[in-house]
Amino acid sequence: MLLELSGITKRFKNGSQYTNILEKLDLRIHEGESVAIKGKSGCGKTTLLNILGGLLPFEEGEMFFNGTNISKLTANEIAEYRRKNVAFVTQNFHLLDDRNVFNNIALPLQYLGMPKNQIKSEIEKTLYELEIEHTIKRSISTLSGGERQRVAIARAIIKKPSILLADEPTGSLDEETEESILNIFDMLHQRGMTLVIVTHDDSVSSRCQNLYELHHKKLAPLGHRSKTNYQRSIFI
Ligand SMILES: Nc1ncnc2c1ncn2[C@@H]1O[C@H](COP(=O)(O)OP(=O)(O)OP(=O)(O)O)[C@@H](O)[C@H]1O
Ligand SMILES: [Mg+2]
Repeated sequence: MLLELSGITKRFKNGSQYTNILEKLDLRIHEGESVAIKGKSGCGKTTLLNILGGLLPFEEGEMFFNGTNISKLTANEIAEYRRKNVAFVTQNFHLLDDRNVFNNIALPLQYLGMPKNQIKSEIEKTLYELEIEHTIKRSISTLSGGERQRVAIARAIIKKPSILLADEPTGSLDEETEESILNIFDMLHQRGMTLVIVTHDDSVSSRCQNLYELHHKKLAPLGHRSKTNYQRSIFI
């Protein structure tokens, strides 16, 4: 089991009131699994992703990553968990607009202390795979939405995380661009990466193995299918 959440309760304070957003929520994710999570706006999907990624503490329950109890770690150890294992992709990309593609993607590798020449070759390889090698010197502000999302994915996967957490990753893309981004997710899944994708979009969730709905502060299973063999020519 890669990730196991057991009895997670998360509450936020609004004024003097505390509200439970997640309540005794359970989730088990196997290594290499792809999970889609849907649910109404404001039900707590982003909150859940942030908990999975070690960005948000929770009030009750336990979270295990590869058998390690994350809830018992120090803040520094949790930051280390996040740096080594977790990558985020969001709808709004969260790239540094005034820097070029190379410098945006280099950041996580610099944090990991990778030597400069290895950073360069890793970036070139990943950009080539995502078919955006021509953008390497371009400033983010000059890229299209689809190109930005590929750069965001490149930055997320370059450190070879065990788990990719994606929050509405295709929410601001047109259909054709969405399809090419979904093909990238399929490729990552085929390579064994664990994916958790928050999405309202059925064409995204239908490509995942397990679909859940966040409802009444808990996850309800909506469907399961076995891992299929995708054949995506550009990545073979
Ligand atoms: N830091 C915070 N302090 C107080 N309330 C918060 C905080 N973060 C989130 N909330 C509240 O928790 C609830 C869940 O928020 P969350 O962002 O997880 O929803 P969501 O399911 O991702 O919604 P959407 O689909 O609109 O992105 C919302 O009511 C939100 O206002
Ligand atoms: Mg959200």
